[in-house]
Amino acid sequence: EKEGFQHYMLKEIYEQPRALKSTMAGHLDEAAGKVTFPGLRLTAEELKEIDKIFIVACGTAYYAGLVGRYAIERLTQIPVDVDVASEFRYQRPLVTAKTLTIVVSQSGETADTLAALREAKRLGSKVLAITNVVGSTIAREADDVIATIAGPEIAVASTKAYTAQLMAFYLFGLYLAQEKQTIDPQEHATLIAALKNVPEQVEKVLENADDLRTFAEGIKDEKSVFFIGRGIDFAVSLEGSLKLKEISYIHSEAYAAGELKHGTLALIEEGTQVIALSTQAELHEKMISNITEVKARGAKVLGITPDSHIELHRTVDELCFIPTTAPLFTPILSVVPLQLIAYYTSLALGNDVDRPRNLAKSVTVE
Ligand code: M6R
Repeated sequence: EKEGFQHYMLKEIYEQPRALKSTMAGHLDEAAGKVTFPGLRLTAEELKEIDKIFIVACGTAYYAGLVGRYAIERLTQIPVDVDVASEFRYQRPLVTAKTLTIVVSQSGETADTLAALREAKRLGSKVLAITNVVGSTIAREADDVIATIAGPEIAVASTKAYTAQLMAFYLFGLYLAQEKQTIDPQEHATLIAALKNVPEQVEKVLENADDLRTFAEGIKDEKSVFFIGRGIDFAVSLEGSLKLKEISYIHSEAYAAGELKHGTLALIEEGTQVIALSTQAELHEKMISNITEVKARGAKVLGITPDSHIELHRTVDELCFIPTTAPLFTPILSVVPLQLIAYYTSLALGNDVDRPRNLAKSVTVE
């Protein structure tokens, strides 16, 4: 069933264009410049009442939530908090009837996420689930469901479910903005058009797989790999770092690039591998100065940046270009090289890529 791929993870990485198209199908009315959610039970009135959003999830789904926060706050100006489910459930969250809690879970069976859902409901919040399994416990107990149509995900390391979750957040964010009229209609239409293009742009990123394989083979013996980025790129860095650790077992950390000086820089020495994401034009200069700082301490740097930002080649050792899209949507493109790096590193090390040690696909106990 791997359809010619050596592992499920690689197959699932390549299924992303299709998963993204299926997840957005039926939601984008390009002619009218509108996003529709025919299945949503939350009424327009209820949506208008929302004054705060909590996003709660575990692991990769939590990292998708961090991107979701950027998208929803930018598009709707509603304040959003993101929490890991195992923290949320015990922290007495400040949830009211005007709070919308969004739980995110590929499997729909994660014990902590389910407990968080129940706690949010008990406190009077409406709960919307973003899940890949519509018959799951989380889907059944939530007030509303946005289904990611990624198809079954077998590999323990989540890939297509993550990008489909990002798509779900973008669609919901655009929908909320449209209903609450927090976005200029022209900008809304431009974003819809850009989002429609993203699946094809993922195909383009996949064409770089050979270069990323070569890069991965070169880092397989590293003791440690650091990921840096700012804003939305920091959120993606966290996901890239998790991917690498869970299947290659190489120590890795992700840092908000501006935090380097507050401690991490001490860990950078001659030859340390750094992966730097710089996808946001207004932050390029700041990233260039952070990259210069790590390079001055001997780091080797791979930069990941849109093809419109060629100046970065002067600062980094290696460059991986992603296609240019709306700044909000870059995570779907920038995570793909990180998935491929993790995959090929694990492969080069001879690890069991699809079933990494100590981990289960679905964590149904606390
Ligand atoms: O099924 P869920 O989305 O609720 O699972 C959450 C995490 O256990 C999961 O994303 C985990 O972090 C993955 N192994 C990451 O690749």
